[in-house]
Amino acid sequence: MSQYLSSLFSLDGKTALIAGGAGAIGSAISLAFAKAGARVLVHDLSSERLAALEARFKEENLPFHGIQADLSGEAACNDLVERARPATGRIDILVNLQGTNRRKPIVEVSQDDFDAITAVNFRSVYFLSKAVQPVMKAQGGGKILHFSSLSANISFDTISVYAATKAAVTSLTRSMAHEWAGDNIQVNAIEPGFVKTEFTRPLWDDDYRGRWFADYIPAGHLAVPEDLITTALSLVAPASRYITGRNVVVDGGVLSGDSWVEKQGRPSAYP
Ligand SMILES: NC(=O)c1ccc[n+]([C@@H]2O[C@H](COP(=O)([O-])OP(=O)(O)OC[C@H]3O[C@@H](n4cnc5c(N)ncnc54)[C@H](O)[C@@H]3O)[C@@H](O)[C@H]2O)c1
Repeated sequence: MSQYLSSLFSLDGKTALIAGGAGAIGSAISLAFAKAGARVLVHDLSSERLAALEARFKEENLPFHGIQADLSGEAACNDLVERARPATGRIDILVNLQGTNRRKPIVEVSQDDFDAITAVNFRSVYFLSKAVQPVMKAQGGGKILHFSSLSANISFDTISVYAATKAAVTSLTRSMAHEWAGDNIQVNAIEPGFVKTEFTRPLWDDDYRGRWFADYIPAGHLAVPEDLITTALSLVAPASRYITGRNVVVDGGVLSGDSWVEKQGRPSAYP
């Protein structure tokens, strides 16, 4: 990479706390940020996932620092920041990837389902960012990147609570961006479309839905976690110092519209 480009996109000397960082997308982002020069502190709920990612870091000769925690409550979010901070004394980048879902029609959603999804997808994003803000402010600035979802814009059957939490995260991105702009903290979000991970296996691991995705997504296929790296890197790198409060959709063209051209063997609508 030219010196000019690396000055824009290098994470050398940065400390990145990546929450949910040993999940499918989180692992891709954690490895990419480490390769871009960041000291990566990987949080996850799952010790098994942390151990699996640690092995991948070792293969690449990258230093690994894993922290296990359930982030459902504010105290746990504050505690994570206290545990992460001593590693380098700084937190320059926070990525919120933690997420969960229980797919059910609205008429079957219980209060427990509702609370479990909102606690992780919205409450933990809110309070972990709130816990990191004073650290970033004291050190002169930082970057916060949320993982919202395409479902903040369009919803599908059985994801009513999940979609609402992601719309909340999209909104929160704007609120945090303007409240913290004066602290030199830029806050942005990525809204991924359909990414082929275990999280979405019930959707793509099915004949009918597999065909539906191929038709519905203009790109013709789901994303892989690595498809999110360039957007994530650009939103936490020095290059994006004037970008804040934005939600970037990475969806293979879904929000661009639909097509009248032949699908599933039906004749083309064109004369
Ligand atoms: N996969 C997709 O198609 C897709 C699309 C849009 C948005 N997203 C979002 O991207 C993020 C990552 O998705 P993924 O596909 O990698 O899923 P994933 O399940 O692999 O990763 C989510 C991580 O969150 C962690 N987590 C769950 N509950 C937690 C809790 N109580 N406390 C702390 N951590 C907890 C899990 O351990 C897991 O590692 C999620 O926020 C998801 O909503 C995913």
